Amino acid sequence: MNQPKVDVLLAANWAASGLVQDVRRGLGSVPRTLPPKWLYDDEGSRLFDRITRLEEYYPTECERTILRDHAAEIAATSGATTLVELGSGTSDKTRLLLDAFADAGRLDRFVPVDVSEETLRDAAAMLATRYPDTDVEAVVGDFTLHLGHLTRYRHKLIAFLGGTIGNLYVEERGAFLGALADSMDAGDELLLGTDLVKDADRLISAYDDAEGVTEAFVKNSLRVLNRELGADFDLDAYSYVPFWDRRMQRMDLRLRTEMPQHVTIPGADLELDLASGEEIRVEISTKFTEERLRDELGAVGLEIGHMWRDPSDSFAVTLARKVG
Ligand code: SAH
Ligand code: TRP
Repeated sequence: MNQPKVDVLLAANWAASGLVQDVRRGLGSVPRTLPPKWLYDDEGSRLFDRITRLEEYYPTECERTILRDHAAEIAATSGATTLVELGSGTSDKTRLLLDAFADAGRLDRFVPVDVSEETLRDAAAMLATRYPDTDVEAVVGDFTLHLGHLTRYRHKLIAFLGGTIGNLYVEERGAFLGALADSMDAGDELLLGTDLVKDADRLISAYDDAEGVTEAFVKNSLRVLNRELGADFDLDAYSYVPFWDRRMQRMDLRLRTEMPQHVTIPGADLELDLASGEEIRVEISTKFTEERLRDELGAVGLEIGHMWRDPSDSFAVTLARKVG
């Protein structure tokens, strides 16, 4: 049987892997924020998987449509022998690429990279069975810290799907893209999925579903702090407030308390006093235009070859090549 290899670059203990630092920095100052990677514990990954199947959450289906229509072309024109996937989760849509590469017969290796270990291990085991001719080398790692690991792979296509790049703040995104380009050789390719700027109603409903799955996903971040750092957040005291920030062109997803809260977070040696009406920003989801993508990719030496959109013009998948 084709067994996946799994490299663990993250400390197994969440507190040691940067949670404490992020919590002190983000929650210890106003406005209060929490970095997004801490949303994806096992329960968070399960909730996200449900989000991708919600009627209101259009990005997954739009991106799947694009990949279905163009995977064969991508595999046929790519010189890649290694496919890397950042923030791979269940790698569900990625199977369209893996199938196309299997038909083209040139892929030696698939390297999924994710912070969510259990989800990654399950996905890697499933893919190793399904693609017996491809070595699966999973990496439990953080794509904001561990891109240097990728320099060992020549002739690679790096997929970063789901609009996850939009969850980074603008300065983090710049640093990420710089490090990503540094990890690539001339000729290596990036396949980037991005959600596009569109009317606010459609955006808000995608992040505020009727069933409340998205609210549960965002609130799960407090559960992570309660479990990992012994915090005493009262989940029922917070309501979910998603809104479209037109100026920053991003969804801004917050938790708000109507009553003053005293919160102790022993694992981070932190006590918080939240005023009534105070909000914690748990996540942003930036939406893109073609110009912005061209500028940001161009700035790090990534030249756009193709940009495909789904028929409803909601989502884009961009193929860019490292030059120079
Ligand atoms: N690519 C999938 C999943 C997107 S959800 C899709 O398109 O549906 C975002 C994924 O990125 C989650 O699996 C989460 O665990 C992972 N993730 C978030 N921050 C990360 C980080 N800093 N490093 C590595 N993986 C991260
Ligand atoms: N990358 C996804 C996005 O920005 C992540 C996501 C989907 C998300 N729904 C969410 C993050 C709700 C926080 C809350 O669309």
